Formats: sequence, C-alpha cells, structure tokens
Amino acid sequence: MNAVAFNEPGLENLNFVNVPVPEIGSNDVLVRVVLAGINPIDYFIVKGLRPVTIFPHIPGSEFAGIVEEVGENVKNLKKSDRVIVYPRIFDGECDFCLEGKEMLCRSGGLIGQVSQGGFAEYTVVPSKNVFKIGDNISWEIAASVPIAALTAYHALKEANVGFNHLTVVVGASGNTGMFAVQFAKMMGAKIIAISRKNWVKDFGADYVTDMERAYDVVRNVSGGKMADVVLDSLGSETFAKSLELVGLNGKIVIFGALTGGEATVPLFKVYSKHLSIVGTTGGTRKEMMEIIAKLDRLKVKVWKKFGLNEARKGLEELFSPQRDGRIFLEIN
Ligand SMILES: NC(=O)c1ccc[n+]([C@@H]2O[C@H](COP(=O)([O-])OP(=O)(O)OC[C@H]3O[C@@H](n4cnc5c(N)ncnc54)[C@H](OP(=O)(O)O)[C@@H]3O)[C@@H](O)[C@H]2O)c1
Ligand SMILES: [Zn+2]
Repeated sequence: MNAVAFNEPGLENLNFVNVPVPEIGSNDVLVRVVLAGINPIDYFIVKGLRPVTIFPHIPGSEFAGIVEEVGENVKNLKKSDRVIVYPRIFDGECDFCLEGKEMLCRSGGLIGQVSQGGFAEYTVVPSKNVFKIGDNISWEIAASVPIAALTAYHALKEANVGFNHLTVVVGASGNTGMFAVQFAKMMGAKIIAISRKNWVKDFGADYVTDMERAYDVVRNVSGGKMADVVLDSLGSETFAKSLELVGLNGKIVIFGALTGGEATVPLFKVYSKHLSIVGTTGGTRKEMMEIIAKLDRLKVKVWKKFGLNEARKGLEELFSPQRDGRIFLEIN
C-alpha cells in the first residue's frame, strides 16, 4: 500500500513509500483511509518535537475511512461501514479509563505517535476506537471530528460553557477554533471570535475582532464584566492578553501552545479575580458519540486538499500566511 513515513525526524525525511498492508489482530479493524485532517500535532511528530518509537513511522492522527476487514472478535462493525477513529490508544483498565477519561489513559497515547497513523491507504486500529457515521456525513466533516472538533468540544465542556456565557475564541478560524465557535453557539454562548477571518461569523461568532481591539470589544459587549470563558491555545504570543479578557470568576482554557510554551502568570490577578486556568487535551469517547449525534449541524471550512504523495507540502502549508481553512490529505 502507499503511505508516507519517516525513519528519522524532519519534514525532509518524510517520504512517499510502498509498505505492506498491516495485519489485524482479533480485536482490530483494518480501515481504508479516505480523508485525513492535517493538524499541528502531525507537524510536531514529523519534526521530532513529539518522539516516536516505531520506524519507519507513519504519522496521521485524524482520519476517516471505510472498514475493510474486522478481527474475529469484532461484532459491531463490518466491511464497508463508514467510520471515524477515536485518536487515543487506551487500555480501558486504568483509573482514568474507568472514569471514562480515555485521553488520560496511563498507558495510552495518540494514534500516529504511539502507533502507526492514518497517512496511509490502510491502517489498523483497535475496534473500541472505531465509530460508525451515517452515509449523509461528508468526509471533510468526518475527518475533522477526532482531533479538531473533539478537542474543542471537550474544552468547552470542561469550562461549563452555557447559556449566554460570554465566550472568547482565540484563533477562531483554526482547525479547533472553527469547531469551538460552532459548539459554543449550540451551547447558547455569546461568542467573540479573535480572528483575521471574517467568515467565522458564518460559523456562529457574534463578534469578530483582532487581539489589539479585543479588550475594548469584550468590555463593551459585557458591559464591563469581561468574558466568562476564554479559549486560547496560541501560547506565548497571546496568553497575557487573554488573561486580561477574563472577568471575575472566569476561566481560561488551554489545550495547546502554538506560538510557544512559556508565559508569565500574574498570581495576584489569578486569585483576586478568582480565575481558573484550565488545561485540557483531546476528549472522551462519550463526547465523540455526542458529536456524532450533531454531525449534520456542523460545517468545516476547507482550504486545500493534497494527495498522499504531497503530504510534506500539506504539512508545510499549515503555517502558510495565506491559509484559510483546513488542509486535508485525500487518500482513497
Ligand atoms: N491537546 C490537544 O488535544 C490538541 C488538539 C488540537 C490542537 N491542539 C493544539 O492547539 C493549538 C491550535 O491548534 P489548531 O489545530 O486549531 O491550529 P491552527 O488550525 O493552526 O489554528 C491556529 C489559528 O490561530 C490563529 N493565529 C494567530 N496567530 C497565529 C500565529 N502566530 N501562528 C499560527 N496561528 C495563529 C490563526 O487564526 P486566525 O486566522 O483566525 O487568527 C490560526 O488559524 C496548537 O498548538 C495545537 O497543537 C491540541
Ligand atoms: Zn487507561
């Protein structure tokens, strides 16, 4: 089968290769990958910023496809089912798995990092990671659920976003941002998007502004109370400004640090304003099911699609200043 793989880290070492179709175990599913989403995590993995141990390594953490074959113990899935894949390997036995927090599994990790990923014609995953989707769901939406949508949804739920809560989404046109805006809208929030892209209004943002004007916009919209929740995973460049946008008893939620991982936290502000700084990562399988029930109400802004043989270019373009929506790899 065709795949992209690297033997040592570096974008220049990511090659279009022909490798054997992987074999399935009795509890596994062989998925014929149709479409894969490209996310910053894929770039970090290929660059070696998130170490991998299997070589040649096939990256790709977010993908959707069609069941090709199931192991002998797999009863709830069959050949030709359209599926998405929960992106975390988990054992189902540790304290966090028992709480339903599979993304925190003590012996788990991300598909495409601790296991071979989906930038390939076929990939093998445990059946407990595989979820059926309806025939009416586009592949672009399907391939946006496992990382982009799920991470945004979980972050909003951890922040208890609810009716009329003033919610700020920083980087609202990004992979996670465009879903954060849509889910926050469904949860009844009032949304201020911080974005260079005006189309985020069509995704449900009530106001769109840039970081420079954000303080005034949030102050005016909130009548001086400031925001209930700020979602900011852009890191060093924006953290201090985001902290200014949160009001009394507010929450700032972080699931990434795209522009750098260091920031100064003014402790006085944290306790005197009764703030919560909440870290999240991924989401649960239960939340993935909740998203599946909402799939026909979601949309995705697609920028470019590349073939598998152009994966390197797809990863590079993630950081293009012209980027305007998601980048996908069209595989089958
Ligand atoms: N822990 C997890 O489970 C998890 C899951 C997904 C993502 N993440 C992390 O969360 C962060 C965001 O991910 P994402 O996939 O949404 O990223 P993305 O698609 O690249 O979106 C980032 C957005 O931020 C805005 N932006 C403003 N300044 C920027 C700058 N200097 N560089 C890049 N973007 C800038 C842009 O939006 P505008 O044009 O609208 O301003 C851009 O679209 C990343 O660090 C990622 O690794 C973590
Ligand atoms: Zn576990």
